[in-house]
Amino acid sequence: MPRTIYFDYNATTPLDPAVRAAMLPFLEEFWGNPSSVHHVGRKARALLDEARNRAATFLGAKPSEFIFTSGGTEANNLAILGTARALKAKGKNLITSSIEHPSVLQCFDYLEKYDGFSVTKLPVNVEGRISVDDLSQAVRSDTVLVSLMAANNEIGTIQPVSELGAVCRRRGIVFHTDAVQWFGKEPFENIGQFNADLVSICAHKFHGPKGAGLVYIKSPLHPSPILFGGGHENERRAGTENLPAVVGLVESLVKFVKNPVFDGTKLKPLADKLAAVVGKLDGCELVSPKNGCLKNTLSFTVQGSDGIALMAGLDMEGICASSGSACSAGSLEPSHVVQSLGKMKTANSLVRFSLGRETTVDEVDFVCSVLPTVIRRAQLGR
Ligand SMILES: Cc1ncc(COP(=O)(O)O)c(C=O)c1O
Repeated sequence: MPRTIYFDYNATTPLDPAVRAAMLPFLEEFWGNPSSVHHVGRKARALLDEARNRAATFLGAKPSEFIFTSGGTEANNLAILGTARALKAKGKNLITSSIEHPSVLQCFDYLEKYDGFSVTKLPVNVEGRISVDDLSQAVRSDTVLVSLMAANNEIGTIQPVSELGAVCRRRGIVFHTDAVQWFGKEPFENIGQFNADLVSICAHKFHGPKGAGLVYIKSPLHPSPILFGGGHENERRAGTENLPAVVGLVESLVKFVKNPVFDGTKLKPLADKLAAVVGKLDGCELVSPKNGCLKNTLSFTVQGSDGIALMAGLDMEGICASSGSACSAGSLEPSHVVQSLGKMKTANSLVRFSLGRETTVDEVDFVCSVLPTVIRRAQLGR
């Protein structure tokens, strides 16, 4: 078995040992239910409040201005379904883009199909960038919510979020950004920098635990709940709080977000090295933009091949990468992001390398050395 080379940090990152250590007492000692009135519960409640205050200080938000969730998917679902439903009397138009994560796009599909909303999907340019002018022109008098991601998970394009948010603010429209891939990769000052009313964050993308995230909700916005059955999170998200996950999320936020744990000065030259090799291979086309891209992310398409063959070929060399949208019934769906770039023919042949903290020069050199053979084999179908 070859050694493992993990180039899939946009999918998830390993739990940091210090974050794990911070979580352990909450799995062993402080296991009470924060809603219980006895002293075991009250202790858990006090520790939950402490974690919430710590997150609030870190984000530059009030403790009441975010809801802990089970991750990015729930944060996006709550932000979009909850806000659209809360504002439905004001207007029925919603705006998003064609390159959002499925946990965003499928909420909009649902709202259009079952809740009577109309959805405008903004296009992107060949770099996967959303235009501020396009948004200005798309906004209607009945638009109540705009949701545009901060950075794209498949090709790494960073969006002009604060400018997009400013358009919404001027028009009095609620703005949500899915910042799941952005946190831990770009420098963070405070939550106000997005110009957004709602921001989704997810811990396992920056060495925190899986199943832990939050959605920032600028006061006085009140999305309708999407989970019912209890008064948790100020009546806004029912379900016993996952205290170990919350503590892990907050610890990883504080440790890895202000100065991003994805170190651009280390990762950019490594991604450039890979790009130089990819650029010389027959049939390969880089789709990650040269500028305004997450520095750890390098994506390309391979003419005459497909995602399954490419992933299998890389895996045989021990290399973990990713290819477009998730696997369904043993086949990879063509990437909706690559399709949105206008590259229909190669949308089923995306390779995404996403590098991270543990990536070494040696690993990159190894991948550079085997890549021509892996690609050629995948093109020949063997
Ligand atoms: C941009 C983006 N949004 C949302 C999510 C969903 O996060 P999770 O699967 O952890 O709920 C992901 C996960 O890959 C993502 O990349």
